[in-house]
Amino acid sequence: MSSNNHSHILITGGAGYIGSHTVRFLQEAGLSNLIVLDNLENGHLESIADDAELVVCDLRDKNAIMRLFEERKIESVVHFAGYAYVGESMGDPGKYFENNVYGGLNLLEAMVKNGCKKIVFSSTCSVYGDINSIAKLDEAMVPNPINPYAKSKFMFEELLGWYEKIYGLCYASLAAGAGYGIGERHEPETHLVPLVLRAILDGGEIKIFGDDYPTDDGSCVRDYIHVLDLADAHLKALEYIVRHNKSITVNLGSGRGYSVKELISIAQEIVGKKLNQKIVERRDGDAACLVANNAKAKTLLDWEPKYKIEEIIASAYEWHKKGIK
Ligand SMILES: NC(=O)c1ccc[n+]([C@@H]2O[C@H](COP(=O)([O-])OP(=O)(O)OC[C@H]3O[C@@H](n4cnc5c(N)ncnc54)[C@H](O)[C@@H]3O)[C@@H](O)[C@H]2O)c1
Repeated sequence: MSSNNHSHILITGGAGYIGSHTVRFLQEAGLSNLIVLDNLENGHLESIADDAELVVCDLRDKNAIMRLFEERKIESVVHFAGYAYVGESMGDPGKYFENNVYGGLNLLEAMVKNGCKKIVFSSTCSVYGDINSIAKLDEAMVPNPINPYAKSKFMFEELLGWYEKIYGLCYASLAAGAGYGIGERHEPETHLVPLVLRAILDGGEIKIFGDDYPTDDGSCVRDYIHVLDLADAHLKALEYIVRHNKSITVNLGSGRGYSVKELISIAQEIVGKKLNQKIVERRDGDAACLVANNAKAKTLLDWEPKYKIEEIIASAYEWHKKGIK
């Protein structure tokens, strides 16, 4: 555990999927002054690196967040905490705005009131909405969220802009595609790679939500990134804003999209087993195609993904095979 006098980096949602991998990644990069903040609603205690300090706290508890910043010296924040299910957000939008916007606002207030002015935000490329199926998402595009999850993430991006203007906050907003690889565990699981692998391993069925999208094979197309590449991008973004004291918005992705059907076929190839597939109705709130243009990430952050789709699926498969579900 770090001492109270040291400056710390706060990782919100650090017990969650991407957050816990990022905590380990930052530690391996030599950062030992980390505090993980998580309410453990969707995070896992055992995912947190042994030597990372955990503060169990909910971002919606305004007083508790303020107290944490008053009591501890926190120099920067990497913000992952929030809800992240498109489908659920279409059924219960208030839940998403309350956590992702109001919770985020409490975080920003506690930061600026206590002199903490650097934040890396894990946003989502779904903020861009349903653009046509050919264009890649670049940062100059005007966001147009089509579900409450994406809208709540975009609203927090807008808050970041105002806090920059008024308080001199410096942020990096990273719009990521779908992050996968080792150790993915969401309850309920709605993400494609773990669903496909579980269905292959358990002999179950995989549902394809719609095959009439304006894409080559009619199924949705996404840009998949390995969770360790995402962690790397968050570290590079933090280093960038600390070094340049300048806010940035950067899209993360491989620049190559894979359709749901393509992904299933690659997974079948890797595992060497066929999977039962069923085409069902489109899911409300899904965009046809989300593929990032990663040119800005390359130039600004010197970041590009190291892992290919086959490695993403293979590492996830190795993990799921061990029966950890
Ligand atoms: N997984 C992806 O493919 C993906 C893609 C793009 C962006 N993102 C973004 O990355 C972030 C993390 O995603 P993930 O897949 O790791 O999700 P996750 O659910 O595994 O992690 C989120 C963590 O935040 C915690 N949390 C939620 N609300 C909280 C609150 N009010 N106070 C404290 N802790 C709270 C949860 O307990 C959980 O540990 C999300 O904000 C998501 O929008 C994820």
